[in-house]
Amino acid sequence: MSKPTTPGNSRRRFLAGAAATTGLVAASSFVPTRFAIGAKAPVKIGILLPYSGTYAMLGESITNGMKMRIEQAGGMLAGRAVEYVAIDSEMSVPKAPQNTKKLMSKEKADFIVGPVHSGIAAAMSKIVGARKSPIMIVPNAGHNGITGELCAPNIFRTSFSNWQPAFPGGKVMADDGHKTAVTISWKYGAGIQMMGAGKAAFEANGGKVIKEILMPFPDVEFQAYLSEIAALKPDAVFSFFSGGGAIKFVKDYAAAGLKETIPLYGPGFLTEGVSKAQGAAAEGIRTTLHYAANLDNPANKAFRAAYISAFGDKPGPNVFSVQGYDAGSLLLQGLAAVGGDTGATGDLIAAMESATFADSPRGFWKMSKAHNPIQDIYLREVKDGVNLVKGIAAKALEDPATGCKMG
Ligand code: PHB
Repeated sequence: MSKPTTPGNSRRRFLAGAAATTGLVAASSFVPTRFAIGAKAPVKIGILLPYSGTYAMLGESITNGMKMRIEQAGGMLAGRAVEYVAIDSEMSVPKAPQNTKKLMSKEKADFIVGPVHSGIAAAMSKIVGARKSPIMIVPNAGHNGITGELCAPNIFRTSFSNWQPAFPGGKVMADDGHKTAVTISWKYGAGIQMMGAGKAAFEANGGKVIKEILMPFPDVEFQAYLSEIAALKPDAVFSFFSGGGAIKFVKDYAAAGLKETIPLYGPGFLTEGVSKAQGAAAEGIRTTLHYAANLDNPANKAFRAAYISAFGDKPGPNVFSVQGYDAGSLLLQGLAAVGGDTGATGDLIAAMESATFADSPRGFWKMSKAHNPIQDIYLREVKDGVNLVKGIAAKALEDPATGCKMG
């Protein structure tokens, strides 16, 4: 189904309290100066995210977070109403060009927000990055190339590059005293790049990866691979799975009897938004990510309370909704700077480049020259079903942006 849809929770609009409107824009007092009178049409946001399959929870969380941020600022972008048009990506790379073009040409979206999946991100950015507009905001997909060789002035990311949470994870595994490891993930951009970054850091710190397992995306038949790991007896396992696949992997890993003998590590997606569903199998797993549930900053506390009151606690606030929330902040700041004139692409891009995220639930971050967050990566550990912060694994980490010719 690639028809524009209204994702489940979008109907759950909520009225933010007056205090929340003191944020970045006093929407109603904004006087658009640049576009013709009568052109005060809604700002159209085209969304391409998964609302079905193993990443459905991610797409839903991002959508909720972004809408919540904009609602908190009065539901407008620089005085203009907002219209959302969402397409279920179905995590299909072959359908990505057609879906992207539909949002650009048929829907005439001013912004495109998406995707979750690295392969789709590469396909989308080849199309969007070849033009001056629209502006694309990536609220999850980590493909290194998006802010590397595929970088473009009109592409921004509010999430991470695959290298960012994975590289510090490899070092943590070595620092914990492990000498040998097996990596296991799905065989596509995200899995390949995250496992590569984790391996590089592990080996730079004295470890050795003895086997790299890549299985087809989004398969969840882990049994044969778990038997292989049991036979190889590495000190540790480094892994990327996410969403529904991560729930099953972590449970199967424990059920195979490996949890007690071969500790599991990885970028925090392994337990993010799914740790409650994983139950006892997730307890004690140490991961690295740019967010943790109990980050002790006022923005995080306010964000979590507002999210739970609007959307409930299943799965509740997580890194994906934070990334969506920050995409909302980026839109608010960009449009405020140009008085709502979506046609002022150059000024809009300049404003988005200098946007600040002092009020992000993940803690302060800013955009790199390649349009990717420079951010802290936290070490976390699951306790009673919650990803708790244990420390900072890497401070203000910036992706190397290899191959990006911009900036
Ligand atoms: C990706 O495909 O880039 C991706 C998907 C899910 C995640 C992280 C990265 O949790």
